[in-house]
Amino acid sequence: MQQTISFVLDGKIQKLNFTETILPTTTVLNYLRSSALHKGVKEGCAEGDCGACTVVIGEAGADDRMHYKAWDSCLVFLPMIHGKQLITVENLAQKKNFQEILHPVQQEMVNTNGSQCGYCTPGIIMSLFSLYKNENEPSKESIEDALTGNLCRCTGYKPILEAAAAACKQNGKDQFTENEAEIIGLLRQIYETSQSLAIDTGSQTYYQPRTKTETLELRNRMSDSLLLNGATDVALRVTKRHETLTQIIDLSQVEELKKCTRTDYLIKFGSGMNLEEVKKIAEKELPALHEALVVFGSKQIRSLATLGGNLGSGSPIGDMLPVLMAYNAEIKLQSVEGERIVNMNDFILGYRKTDRKANEIITKVIIPKPLPETTVRFYKVSKRKDLDISTVSAAISLTLINDRVGAIVLAFGGMAAVTKRAGKAEKHLAGREWTRKHVEEAMELIETEFSPISDARSGAEFRKLASRNLLMKFWMDTQIQIKA
Ligand SMILES: Cc1cc2nc3c(=O)[nH]c(=O)nc-3n(C[C@H](O)[C@H](O)[C@H](O)COP(=O)(O)OP(=O)(O)OC[C@H]3O[C@@H](n4cnc5c(N)ncnc54)[C@H](O)[C@@H]3O)c2cc1C
Ligand code: FES
Ligand code: FES
Repeated sequence: MQQTISFVLDGKIQKLNFTETILPTTTVLNYLRSSALHKGVKEGCAEGDCGACTVVIGEAGADDRMHYKAWDSCLVFLPMIHGKQLITVENLAQKKNFQEILHPVQQEMVNTNGSQCGYCTPGIIMSLFSLYKNENEPSKESIEDALTGNLCRCTGYKPILEAAAAACKQNGKDQFTENEAEIIGLLRQIYETSQSLAIDTGSQTYYQPRTKTETLELRNRMSDSLLLNGATDVALRVTKRHETLTQIIDLSQVEELKKCTRTDYLIKFGSGMNLEEVKKIAEKELPALHEALVVFGSKQIRSLATLGGNLGSGSPIGDMLPVLMAYNAEIKLQSVEGERIVNMNDFILGYRKTDRKANEIITKVIIPKPLPETTVRFYKVSKRKDLDISTVSAAISLTLINDRVGAIVLAFGGMAAVTKRAGKAEKHLAGREWTRKHVEEAMELIETEFSPISDARSGAEFRKLASRNLLMKFWMDTQIQIKA
């Protein structure tokens, strides 16, 4: 067990000891802002909404290549970058022959006048840099997706989108490509000389196990500790509520939790897979899951957030919950005593309360592939299309047999203290013809099944109206599909 973390910054291995002033829950943003050389990174919101704090994280892959992703540094605790490369806006320009040569993404931002007051610019540059390293000639949708997590109050975005299109044409080639082997060597050196972390500062203990067995043992010993993975929920307790989290088990380095396996009939997602990886896998085989992830947070959030974290929060507006109900998914839980499987429909017990026992962790999410005669869709109603939490969400699964409803799931988020199925409406539709008349009858029932609250996102009446209308939208979508 070790107390110190190491990561690569400015091309060198940096070692960091934790103290009462630099706690394990100090965010990467605050660490960088305290360094004279890395003040480009900015704080706008400290809650993952504005992207001013975006940095790029490089990881050495098993394929001997570096893999880059943009993260909101305001949500990242320092131990989460142990063994990784941290890249900030200061690392992009190069000095050659006493001249500063801007990175292609920086140069194109200059060429298109993509910066005005400049507050958002370092974060935007880092999102563009991540795009540059990952995609050549990206589509308009891809560029917009890469920038969803970055707010700019001045430019109106057009020049930034133009800069992205103009820059990302060089197959990701730059000085980071030239230095790739060297950085991989440094990261491997850190890994090989490191052990699991056990940091104790007096006021805070932070464990970062590397294996599942170690994790389960730690959890068994400290079932009151706080689990975290992507920390996109947990970090807000520190940045917004200023809580001191006293005992943490960080699952983010447990490789066994990041694996995806499949059979002809089902896909098993590791609970530690980030949602960007899940989105890519879902695109072809689980379209409703993909639909939900397209409008989930931003690319920076999805690259951090995990499936296990969304389920672990058990929030009534967590977007994964209704989708997993509609797919009839199963949740695998494990402790030192063994493992068990719980159907998603039984997993949520109350407001943010799940069936997970204190010494268990979520290890897998198992999703059966839908039958050809089954349609599953996800709908999200929110104030903004992008980077917003659901006001109401619905995931609907319909299996039609000879134009009649063989099976239907109507799962709603944001309508009760828990993600909840509209049982009466489901019962009403079962076995009936899939007609507008029957759907309108079911809509009346949905209205009687929920007593939603009014809050900052919307009034109760709106929620009722939205939920019933989402069923009608689904019916209309199935008519288009049937005609096609
Ligand atoms: C800007 C922003 C936008 C967001 N947008 C959305 C959105 O569109 N839709 C949405 O649903 N959510 C959204 N969220 C919420 C959050 O991103 C998700 O809930 C995310 O999936 C949490 O995953 P995580 O890995 O970051 O969880 P963490 O913060 O690490 O953990 C969350 C909870 O799960 C528990 N936990 C984590 N892993 C496990 C495990 N393996 N076993 C048991 N318990 C575990 C933790 O103890 C904690 O209670 C957003 C958050 C932010 C900051
Ligand atoms: S400071 Fe706004 S996303 Fe981090
Ligand atoms: S240039 Fe001013 S906020 Fe973007």
